[in-house]
Parts: sequence; C-alpha cells; structure tokens
Amino acid sequence: MFPLLAIETSCDETAAAVMGPEGQLLSSVVHSQIDDHALFGGVVPELASRCHVEAIRGVVDRALSDAGCSIEDLGCVAATRGPGLVGSLLVGLSYAQGLAAARDLPLLGINHLEGHLLAPFVGSPEPPFPFLALVVSGGHTELVIARGLGDYEVVGQTRDDAAGEAFDKGARLLGLGYPGGVVIDRLSQQGDAACYALPRGMAKRPGFDFSFSGLKTAVWKHVQANGVPQGSDQNDFCASLQEAIVDALLLKTRKAAREWAMSDIVVTGGVAANSRLRARFQEVADEEGWTLHRPVMSLCTDNAGMIGYVAALRASRGERHSLSTAVCPGLALGPDKPPTPLPGALLESGPSAEVPERG
Ligand code: KG4
Ligand code: ZN
Repeated sequence: MFPLLAIETSCDETAAAVMGPEGQLLSSVVHSQIDDHALFGGVVPELASRCHVEAIRGVVDRALSDAGCSIEDLGCVAATRGPGLVGSLLVGLSYAQGLAAARDLPLLGINHLEGHLLAPFVGSPEPPFPFLALVVSGGHTELVIARGLGDYEVVGQTRDDAAGEAFDKGARLLGLGYPGGVVIDRLSQQGDAACYALPRGMAKRPGFDFSFSGLKTAVWKHVQANGVPQGSDQNDFCASLQEAIVDALLLKTRKAAREWAMSDIVVTGGVAANSRLRARFQEVADEEGWTLHRPVMSLCTDNAGMIGYVAALRASRGERHSLSTAVCPGLALGPDKPPTPLPGALLESGPSAEVPERG
C-alpha cells in the first residue's frame, strides 16, 4: 500500500503528497493558482481546470522526488473526488486513474471535507473519535459529530455564505483583493474589534446553523454610506468584521459541544488559519475543558497531505474504488456510501468499496 500518492485538485490549488509506511507525511507540494485568479476577483472555474492540467505533472513529480521515491515504487494512489469544481476534480481524479491503470495500483477517491475533518491528525495512527468538528473553509461551514471513520453527522451548517466567503466577500467590498481572509487577519491585528457593531447571524436562533449573508449586507451598507474605510479606520473595520465571524462560529460550537457533551473539539479548514479564531477558541477551550485539535498551518488550507491521510486510513481497512469511479462535485459529509461509477463505464465485478455499518 505504501508509498501512497495523494492528489488534490478540488478548487484552485494543485497539490500532491506522499505518505510513508507508518502513515507519515513524506512530502507535500501545493501549487497555488491565486495569482491566476486574482485578476478576476475570484476563482474562474474554466481557468482553474486549465491551470491544473498545466501544473499537475510537475507537482506530482516534485512530491515524489521530495519523498525520495519514483512512480515505480508506489503502492497506492488516491485523489479527491468531491466536493469541488467539476473540471478541477476531473483533472486530479483522471490523473490518478491513469496512474492506477498503468501501474496496476489500488485507487481511492476521497471526500475533500473528510480530508479537512481529519487534517489535525495527519501523522497519528488514529483520530480520537468521537469528536465535534467545526469545518470552516471557503466553500463550507459545518459542525460535524464524528463518531468513527466514515461515521459523520452534520448537525449545523451555513444557510448561505461560508465563513471563508464572509472573509473573502467582505475583503472585496473593502477593496482588499482576493482572497481576503489573510489580509483581514493581518490588518485586524492593528484594529479595535469593538469599534463597529456588526451582526452575528443566527446567534439568537435555536439550532446550530450559521448565516453570514446579513454580515455581508452590513459591510455593503457601511461602504455605501461612508465609503471604503481607510487607514486606522480600515484596521478597525476589519477587526470588527473578523470578530463578528469568529463570535458566530464560537457561539454555535460551544452550544453544540455542550449539547452532545463533547470535549474533543476539532477546528479545521482554511479559516482555521485565522489568528483571532485560533486565540479565541483556545480561550474557550481553557474555560470549557476542551482538548482542541487544529491542523498545523500548512494543512489548514487545501493540501494533499490530508487526502493521503484519509486514503491511508481507508486503504488499511481494505477499501478500494473502481477505476471508473466518477467525480462528485456535490459530495457531502455523512455516513459512508459507495462511490458511483461513471455511467456506461466498466464496473468491477465486486463491490466498489467496503461500506462499514453505521454504529
Ligand atoms: O480550505 P480552503 O483552502 O479552501 C476551501 O476548501 O474552500 O479555504 C480557503 C478559505 C478562503 O476563503 C480564505 O480566505 C480563508 O480560507 N482563509 C482565511 C485565512 N487563511 C485562509 N480566513 C481568515 N483568516 C486567515 N488567516
Ligand atoms: Zn478545502
């Protein structure tokens, strides 16, 4: 099974990683397309696919050479099969399928969100199930109860924008470019978070869902009425916006942790790189007696190490997917279901995946 090559191309990062025999990360290469998309103020799906096609060979070759191995050494290959942009996903999964077919290797198609969910545990033999996870990225904001590998229940999610989108769209309205999360994080460090009262979506509503569209509207209204904030006012506005997002995330996470009596708490995804979110979650963890699990910075945003880790856990319990496994752009987190093969393609004679019973 090892070395295992993992490929991630769900959005605008072309990434490859190699896992060693103990499931340790031997290499992780991420080629970002941010510069290609920045001109357009967001990810252009068609451009993303073309950039993946151009980059993937070099990224895989570098991951292999960084790990000190070659294609001939590989024991298994995995790629993200969803959720994400269909054209982007197709580049990575097809590349993995080509390799698996040519070298007669087992193939695994991995859920990108499961990668984020388990990213804090890359390098450790087993995730500490059960735990509550806040998955916060550019496309998703979900509260998940993870009871075991493939046994996930989404108990809260955003009704509109994701937390990362709230950062990115806010930054765009404030003229800070794309993507905006990192810039808001940096400017906020010089700002006063109490300066502007911005809405905490769904804070007073029952349940565990989030909403960030009202916050976006509040930023838009502020800019319409007062113009784009400048200088120290810009720092104060960014800090207030960041605080509103972090508050909303923290409030529902604390409520869910109490509801399900969870003390192992995972905070993961691109937004988990935010310095204020990390500090505030640590404060609450100390108050509530949580053990907080966060990925190292390089595994917060999209990467193939987290995909390789999930693939290694699944391969070690005998899972294999058909060479004709299709991409699934709308794939969600939930209890395991076998992947659907491409229509009309050859089916394996056996089941395409071992599907565990829900416990
Ligand atoms: O997980 P990720 O790389 O891609 C998706 O799967 O969506 O997350 C990207 C998101 C973007 O919205 C980006 O602005 C946000 O993560 N992000 C941050 C920070 N670093 C990345 N948001 C706030 N503060 C940061 N430091
Ligand atoms: Zn992601």
